[in-house]
Amino acid sequence: MFFKKKTVQTPVTDERLNSVAIIMDGNGRWAKRRALTRSAGHVAGAANIKNVLRLARDFDIHYLTLYAFSTENWKRPKEEVDGIMKLAVQYLDSAIDEMKKNDQICFRFVGDTSVLSDEIQERIALVRSMDHGQPFVCNVALNYGGRDEILHAANEAVKDGITHITAQDIDERLYTAGTPHPDLLIRTGGEMRVSNFLLWQIAYTELYVTKTLWPDFGRKEFLGAIDAFYGRDRRFGGL
Ligand code: FPP
Repeated sequence: MFFKKKTVQTPVTDERLNSVAIIMDGNGRWAKRRALTRSAGHVAGAANIKNVLRLARDFDIHYLTLYAFSTENWKRPKEEVDGIMKLAVQYLDSAIDEMKKNDQICFRFVGDTSVLSDEIQERIALVRSMDHGQPFVCNVALNYGGRDEILHAANEAVKDGITHITAQDIDERLYTAGTPHPDLLIRTGGEMRVSNFLLWQIAYTELYVTKTLWPDFGRKEFLGAIDAFYGRDRRFGGL
């Protein structure tokens, strides 16, 4: 359990690190360094999700939101896209198994999933039917784009007959509705950008970039990010 070293003026969620988002970058470089294919890098990346999820639970982080496939990732070679979609199916199967065994964890697949294959959509529907307010939530972003999400939420509000849209109207219609806005966004692989991830939700999120490549991101690196978070003075626009 971790506690803040400094006083928070206006907490968004609570003083404890509760909601973490991760841009899992660097699978390709990890593979290249080992003379492996990019797809092999994604296999290693997918395996690491399980470790990091276990660590998040050890650290009492209740919400984890992972960027697995963006609306822009379709531009990658077909072989690589097919490999990631195959991993998505395997990941969904293991998420279903985990939810059957463990009533503490819930997986949610966020993004425009309506264009994904039938085998993925069927599994997502099953996962949704098993969602009953479990205390630990792992959101996996698939065909996700932050701009797309905001437009989708605004259009849903219009469909609901709202003429003057408020921030709450958007919040309630985000793909990630129900997950507190992240306290901390971690990006592995060293790039200093947010790549269209959670654009609405990260307004006051602390950012942490590490050069560590995603498949190598483990306990020591996660603790480094948590330590950096607790060293920050979050003011949310105040003094
Ligand atoms: C970015 O690394 C990573 C991705 C675009 C895909 C992330 C996918 C996984 C972690 C595994 C798939 C998991 C599921 C649940 C579908 P990159 O390929 O851009 O790496 P690079 O910057 O080193 O080239």
